[in-house]
Amino acid sequence: MTDTTAHRPPERYTPEAVAALLTTAVLGRRIELHPQVASTNDLVREAGIRGEPEGLVVMAEEQMLGRGRLGRRWVAPAGCCVLCSVLLRPRFAAREAFYITIAASLAIYRACKALGGPLQPVAGIKWPNDVLLNGRKVSGVLSEGEFRGGSWDFAVLGFGINANLRPDQLGELRGAATSLSAELGREVDRAALLAKVLTEFEGLYFLLQGGQFGAVHGEWVAALETLGRRVTALEGNGRRVEGKALRADPDGALVVLTGEGVERRVLAGDVLPFTPQNG
Ligand code: BTN
Repeated sequence: MTDTTAHRPPERYTPEAVAALLTTAVLGRRIELHPQVASTNDLVREAGIRGEPEGLVVMAEEQMLGRGRLGRRWVAPAGCCVLCSVLLRPRFAAREAFYITIAASLAIYRACKALGGPLQPVAGIKWPNDVLLNGRKVSGVLSEGEFRGGSWDFAVLGFGINANLRPDQLGELRGAATSLSAELGREVDRAALLAKVLTEFEGLYFLLQGGQFGAVHGEWVAALETLGRRVTALEGNGRRVEGKALRADPDGALVVLTGEGVERRVLAGDVLPFTPQNG
């Protein structure tokens, strides 16, 4: 049998390799790669405070203090994932901030689908913005805003993608998380993946900058695996809402029909598969 991996050229995950594949106007006008950082979001936030124009992209091979949503940690082994943050200076209203995260999850979803291959994993989005492959999380998005007097100063869009992670590297997350390489049965080129995500995101971001929220909302809703399922929704304050996920409103809220027949809106949080003992 032929060994197809023996002579594979080493992966080029560099700012130059990403820049060469970008077809963006703004994102990636400057790209940094760091071997190890606390959090890429922190570096981009510092750049935002310094007044750097939007489009800065910060990549890292390893994060020591990666942050996730809802105060969680984002842990990833060194050298095999996409850990990235982008500086944005949105012109739309601060109340539409969540559209940055849903646009990012859509960009990652599109990039995952474009990888194709014979195994063709099923991609979807778990409300609000986890990208899933075959039902398990492959990517998460955390955007953080800086506001001045009720309007944007800048936004930091951060995302992590489990690119070339072996199943044994997922540890205790193995049941709930996966990687592109595990689902596709081959390693992916992280530079090409990141360039695709940034290119897709810029198109969606420009729609938002032009006030076209409906187009982004519609595609997000169509990609949401959560809708129509029985779920336990965990609100940011820890409250649980159980029932059938009916729809996702234009403000991002998940509307859950409870057993009592009441529609409850969950604005921020997470969803778990429904299990009766959760109540
Ligand atoms: C989540 O699913 O909870 C969101 C995870 C976001 C992780 C990324 S990795 C790059 C960027 N820097 C961080 O500290 N967090 C985000």
